[in-house]
Amino acid sequence: MSQKPLPGFRDFYPEQFAERAHIFETWRRIVRRYAFLEYDGPPLEPLELYTQKSGDEIVTQLYNFVDKGDRPVAMRPEMTPTFARMVGAKAQTLRKPVRWFSLPQLFRYERTQKGRLREHFQLNVDIVGESDVLADAELISMAIEIMRSFGLTNTDVRARVSDRRLLNGLLEHLAIPDTSWPAVYAVLDKLERQPREVSAEKLAAAGLPTETAEIILGFATLDFAAVQARYGEAPAVKPHLDRFAEYLAHLDALGVASWIRFDLTIVRGLAYYTGIVFELFDNVGEFRAICGGGRYDNLLKSLGGADLPALGFGMGDVVIGELLRSRGLMQSRGTALEFWIAQSPEQASAPAGALQTATAMRQAGCTVEYALKAQKLDKQVDAGRKAGAHAFVIVDTASTDAPWRVRRAGHDDQIFTTLEALCAWASLQNGSRS
Ligand code: HAM
Repeated sequence: MSQKPLPGFRDFYPEQFAERAHIFETWRRIVRRYAFLEYDGPPLEPLELYTQKSGDEIVTQLYNFVDKGDRPVAMRPEMTPTFARMVGAKAQTLRKPVRWFSLPQLFRYERTQKGRLREHFQLNVDIVGESDVLADAELISMAIEIMRSFGLTNTDVRARVSDRRLLNGLLEHLAIPDTSWPAVYAVLDKLERQPREVSAEKLAAAGLPTETAEIILGFATLDFAAVQARYGEAPAVKPHLDRFAEYLAHLDALGVASWIRFDLTIVRGLAYYTGIVFELFDNVGEFRAICGGGRYDNLLKSLGGADLPALGFGMGDVVIGELLRSRGLMQSRGTALEFWIAQSPEQASAPAGALQTATAMRQAGCTVEYALKAQKLDKQVDAGRKAGAHAFVIVDTASTDAPWRVRRAGHDDQIFTTLEALCAWASLQNGSRS
C-alpha cells in the first residue's frame, strides 16, 4: 500500500490545512464585503453538463464514469455549469442581479505540474442579470481587492483584460470568416508560449493570408490606445471600443486602474465566454494564472434556463498559495492552545479534578488540553510545554486553600479558590487575545 495520495491530490496535514484556512478566510471575508451570498452544489453531476458547454480541454480532463444506475456522471471540473443550472432553474424568483459565491473542490485529470493539480479548491464569484459593464468592473475590482488583502500589490500581480466582442469585431473588420475564429482564438491564447513560426503556420492552415496573419501576430503588443488609434473608426469595432472605454473609466473610479493591462491575447479556453474576459498573473511570469473569468451571456439559456446575462471568475487555491509562499506572505494560524491542565498530586486513577476543570473551562470558551492518562506532575507539565500551552492550570484536589494554581511565564502564580472564579478569569484572558 503506497504511503502517498494519488498523483495530483493533496494530503492537508494541520500545517497545510492552516494555510488553506488562511486562503479561505481571506476569500470569504472580502467577498462578503461585496455582498455576495454563499451557495454550493453537488460534486458529482451528469456528464452531459460538461460535454456540451465546457470546451474540449476540460472534457478531455474529466473524471467520469457510469454509476450503478447506468447514468454517465462526472466529478465537477468547474463550477460554472452547476451555477448556471441552479440559477436558471429558479431565475423567476431570484432577486436580480444574483450575486453568489462558492468554494468548491474541483477535479480535472490534468498533467500535474507546478500550479496544476488534479484537484483544487476554487473560489467562484458570479453575477447574473446585469449586462452593463459596471458589473464587469465590480467583479474584477473584487478579484484585485482579494490580492490586496493577501498583502500583494500591483507590482506583484497584473490583471490582463480583453473583450471577445471587441476581438470578434476586429476579426470581422479584417475579413476573417467566422469559421476560422476558433483557430485564431487558439493561436492568440498560446501566442506567448508558442514559437512565432508555429503560430504563423497555424494561422496559414486556418486559411489566413500572410498579411492578415501578421496583423494577428502583432495583437500581443497592442495596448488599448493603439487599438483605438488604428481601428477606432471601423464600424465593426467602434461600439466595442466605446464600451471598453467605459469599463476602463469604472475601473479608474474603483481605484484599480493601475493593476489592469489591456491584452488581446487573453481569450480564455472555456467555450462559453461572450464578452469581457480576464486573467490575473504574477508580474514576473513565474506562475500559471491566479484567476480567470469573464462574461458568459448565453450559457443560462443554452442550459435550458432563463435568458439572462452572466459573468464571473474562478480563483484557485494552488497558484495563490505558491505565490504567497514565494513572497513570504503566507499566514498559517492553527488553533492556539491556551491552557494545559495538570493534576497534582499524581493519581493512579482518572484525574477527576482535571477533567471537571477542563469541562468548565471549555464551556467558558477556552482552548484546553490535558494528559490523556495518569502521569507524574513534571511529565504532565513537560507534555504541556511541548504542546505550546500559554499557561498551566495545576489542580490540587487535596488542597483546600489553593485548589487551582495558574502558572505562566513571566507572571507570579495566581491562586483561585473556586472553579467559577478561574473560568471567569480565563475567559477574559481568552477575550483579550482573540
Ligand atoms: P479556469 O480558468 O479553468 O476557469 O480556472 C480558474 C482558475 O482555477 C485558474 O486561473 C487557476 O487558478 C485555477 N485552476 C484551474 N485548473 C486548475 C488545476 N488543475 N490545478 C490548480 N488550479 C487550477 C474556470 O474554471 C471558470 N469556470 C471560472 C469562471 C467562473 N468563469 C465564470 N465564472
